[in-house]
Amino acid sequence: PQGSARIIDLPQISDPRGDLTFVEGGNHVPFDIARVYYLYNVPVDSERGGHAHRDLEQVIFALSGSFRISLDDGTNKTEFWLRDPRKGLYVNRMIWREMDAFSQGAVCMVLASHPYDESDYYRDYNEFQAALRGEAK
Ligand code: TYD
Repeated sequence: PQGSARIIDLPQISDPRGDLTFVEGGNHVPFDIARVYYLYNVPVDSERGGHAHRDLEQVIFALSGSFRISLDDGTNKTEFWLRDPRKGLYVNRMIWREMDAFSQGAVCMVLASHPYDESDYYRDYNEFQAALRGEAK
């Protein structure tokens, strides 16, 4: 669906001492931030994700290094390469995502709309597809 994934540009305050970027829940990010988590020490051949969420919305950043995110809303597949700490990828609910091609030392930070809840996950692609068909009715 339209608006299911898009890049969010954050402010950047730069001076000779370096760059500063900030993010405000409900302002730059279209939800109240309930959780922040990050991936680090990721082996370069690692594949992460492989799930969708019933309700969770997220914004995903490469704070350092780069990686690829592949998205699938059941109809369209898209691919994003994240490599700029100023640009976050908004991912709506009910989007299957896979992440790979992590660069050495990459750090992925995720802002999430809800606390961790395993029952919010679809970890089976067929089950995810069936749920999408159910919602389309
Ligand atoms: P998972 O979401 O599958 O990681 P990724 O999508 O990055 O591959 O989570 C991996 C494990 O960590 C899983 O056992 C659930 C646990 N976990 C938490 O306990 N809290 C969290 O906030 C997250 C994101 C994961």
